[in-house]
Amino acid sequence: MGNEMRIVTEGSKDKYIFTDVVEIEGQETSILDITNLDAIRKMVAENDIKVIVNCAAWTNVDGAEDPEKYALVEKLNATAPENLAIAMKEVNGLLVHISTDYVFGGDPYNTPCKEDQKGTPTGVYGLTKLHGEQNIQNTGVDYLIFRTAWLYSEFGKNFVKTMMNLTSTKPQLKVVFDQVGTPTYAYDLAAAIFDIVENRKYEGNTGVYHYSNEGVCSWFDFTMMIAEIAGNKECYIQPCHSDEFPSPVKRPAYSVLDKTKIKETFGITVPYWTDSLKKCMDNLIK
Ligand SMILES: NC(=O)c1ccc[n+]([C@@H]2O[C@H](COP(=O)([O-])OP(=O)(O)OC[C@H]3O[C@@H](n4cnc5c(N)ncnc54)[C@H](OP(=O)(O)O)[C@@H]3O)[C@@H](O)[C@H]2O)c1
Repeated sequence: MGNEMRIVTEGSKDKYIFTDVVEIEGQETSILDITNLDAIRKMVAENDIKVIVNCAAWTNVDGAEDPEKYALVEKLNATAPENLAIAMKEVNGLLVHISTDYVFGGDPYNTPCKEDQKGTPTGVYGLTKLHGEQNIQNTGVDYLIFRTAWLYSEFGKNFVKTMMNLTSTKPQLKVVFDQVGTPTYAYDLAAAIFDIVENRKYEGNTGVYHYSNEGVCSWFDFTMMIAEIAGNKECYIQPCHSDEFPSPVKRPAYSVLDKTKIKETFGITVPYWTDSLKKCMDNLIK
């Protein structure tokens, strides 16, 4: 997500500073550990920062279930966003934060989740992300929280890259069809955030918003489409149930996000998931 923010903000009238907890080879990055409030305050003061877009988090959903990791996951997903919110509140700035569809899922609904629906996470990742949202709100800072889902991009390790590889090398593959959501090209979300920040559309419109690509699918459908676009016809892809894959965490069966609010408030057009998938895979194949 952070890498996509770099791309969409090129040519902005604003100045963006990109930070990470470690040095990134070949990319201009300032070191900042967002679990350290004083370091954030120093960065904000030295650079006169008015808006923070937080793309950092603990994102390993299975790994978050390790009881020995709980304190660290909570620190990254709940305390760190609170730190960023405190630092922005102190300068009357804006915090833009990314959250997740996994704050939902504990209740068996089958209609798209709205922003004001009660969070019912099924695992530690979703729970700590929900705590992060609540911590931000409790500081009284101006905030935009974008809940998104099933992110992929050209960068890093993600489902699209994994399935492009597996469907080209394996004769057969089983993928779950009983978890339904919507994939999101991180570029599309980054472009939406950039539009809102660059054009100051957030003024008078702070709050929680949902953003994923348009449409609904299961991980099985997602994989079928990845294989089709990649031209990987040899792999036999079969739908299966989640309980065929032992996992430390129960993932939501249905976590489709309702995007009416973001579209109506900001006039955003959301691309259909297969169109965005084709764009990303074209870039990857090139
Ligand atoms: N991926 C998804 O499917 C998905 C779905 C819904 C919502 N989201 C949310 O979307 C956001 C972006 O996700 P992503 O997939 O782009 O995440 P990601 O690839 O895992 O990137 C997270 C980044 O945070 C950095 N980080 C870790 N600890 C840090 C610290 N103490 N200070 C500063 N940076 C730190 C990581 O650095 P290192 O790599 O060096 O650790 C990494 O660069 C997250 O808020 C996530 O919860 C993701």
